[in-house]
Amino acid sequence: MRELLNEIVPSLSVAMEKLELNHDQWVNLLGNSTDKLHGDITLPCHTFSKILRKSPNDIAIEIANILGSELSEISDINIVNGFLNFKAKNSWISKKISSLNSDPRLGVELENSKTIVIDYSSPNIAKRMHVGHLRSTVIGDALSRILLFKGHNVVGENHIGDWGTPFGMLIEHFIECDNNNVGDIDLSTFYKEARYKFDNIDDFALRSRKRVVKLQSRDPETIDLWQNLVDYSLVHFNSVYQMLGVLLDDDNLAGESMFEELLPEVVKRLESKNLIVESEGALVVFPDGWYNRENEPLPLIIRKGDGGYNYATTDLACIINRVESIGCNEMLYVVGAEQSQHFSMVFQVAKDAEFMGEEIKAVHVPFGLVMGSDGKKLASREGKAITLKELLEESVTRAEKLILEKNPSMPDSDRSKVSRMIGIGAIKYADLSIDRNKNYVFDWNKMLSFDGNTAPYLQYAHARICSIFRRTSISRESTIDSEILVVNDFEKSLSKSIIGFSESIDETINSYSPHRLAVYLHHLAQDFASFYENCPVLVSDDENTMNSRLALCNLTARTLKTGLGLLGIETPENM
Ligand code: ARG
Repeated sequence: MRELLNEIVPSLSVAMEKLELNHDQWVNLLGNSTDKLHGDITLPCHTFSKILRKSPNDIAIEIANILGSELSEISDINIVNGFLNFKAKNSWISKKISSLNSDPRLGVELENSKTIVIDYSSPNIAKRMHVGHLRSTVIGDALSRILLFKGHNVVGENHIGDWGTPFGMLIEHFIECDNNNVGDIDLSTFYKEARYKFDNIDDFALRSRKRVVKLQSRDPETIDLWQNLVDYSLVHFNSVYQMLGVLLDDDNLAGESMFEELLPEVVKRLESKNLIVESEGALVVFPDGWYNRENEPLPLIIRKGDGGYNYATTDLACIINRVESIGCNEMLYVVGAEQSQHFSMVFQVAKDAEFMGEEIKAVHVPFGLVMGSDGKKLASREGKAITLKELLEESVTRAEKLILEKNPSMPDSDRSKVSRMIGIGAIKYADLSIDRNKNYVFDWNKMLSFDGNTAPYLQYAHARICSIFRRTSISRESTIDSEILVVNDFEKSLSKSIIGFSESIDETINSYSPHRLAVYLHHLAQDFASFYENCPVLVSDDENTMNSRLALCNLTARTLKTGLGLLGIETPENM
């Protein structure tokens, strides 16, 4: 509980000075207590024992004595096994939560605005988006929303794979498909078919190579064909983005082709820093500290023997653009963990070459795989590739069935809207609620369950609060001026949870881990469930209690809605 800690520190500083313990010796020891029975914040006094030659318990008692009644408005103090515990007083919590009640930002302060580029989604042209791109899209979208909420200038970039030597064969194959019927093009097999023809049909391979040359020299007819192919894939990508309800649109496109003209500049700058060497006909950089399995220096290939540039070269160009044209302070790359080495090497070279100074932060935000319930990487079902759109549609259909069971009287038009919120929310939350570094298992029953750490559980808590208000004549808005009285332990836990919202946002940002926010929201919903079970709201014995509890309900709903909204998940009022 950061709020409590912040209020304790000044008085504690004075007390610790009297014991001649300096700030650095204790301030980092002060933290959230794991023993909630005894305290919210705790200071373990064991390490002071050696310095002061007293038992930890005696030291804790001495500190408590010096503090005297200093913190009596804020917290109770107790001492257990050498731990000095501070437990927030109901009256203090009541004051805090009542002031949050009228705060539209729920205690989340704006930060000095930084320009942060988030590179996410980034599928490849002429291929279908796969579940890895889904993870990147969902995590990147959540991070964008959270950073925006914190006041940053967020530049979302969709670094689609739309350039390079394979585009010769892709365009040639596109021409051949186009002659038949554009609508028949199947992106899940398109790339493979082109590759097959390239490897097996000499004439096709020859045409493809010529096409690459034409593309690179910007032959207008070839550029037109390329653009058609890109547009064709974008229709598919955009339909997925739309279904997902993410912030990405065509304005966010910053594909590999955009940086093509900068590639010779990358080489020039690397040469001027004497970083580039020729190796087996290719131009490479050997960043310090990288070795292959044979313990030979590992190169980052900048230009291949045939003159073609590499994925890494484009990423270096991209960094120059983001630093010099966009003026970013931070770059986040939401890309699968399998590309960790690529990004480490690229960042290192970009620093060595002074494409970015020390003050600029480049961070790879990696994530694990999506697994099927068979424990294997989720890619196909009964031998057929799973397409993202089908996956999303299936989730909505399943949600619709559930709603029909649980709430048969809901009008059809509401049901279809709500099913979309639940179905899409479930898929996003299943991804976001798990530490992104871990693989996550795609499990329909789990993600759509109304119990447990799931979107429907959180959405349901929100809808339940909306339904409480439907049963009274008191409007939600009118409760924001009410004083919230924290009397019993249920009100206290729920209030403390709500007060923790801003801390959870900061933790999420500091670790670039939306799952921190998800875990927080799940605890909040659990605290609400206990509160609701134990504290009658509408049948309260007196008006003050009823108003206070209604205010607490409304504040909980606002926090759930805001939090889920930051994860890109909608909250129906009825479900
Ligand atoms: N298109 C790449 C892929 O599908 C991801 C690009 C990630 N972003 C980047 N700047 N390299 O693997």
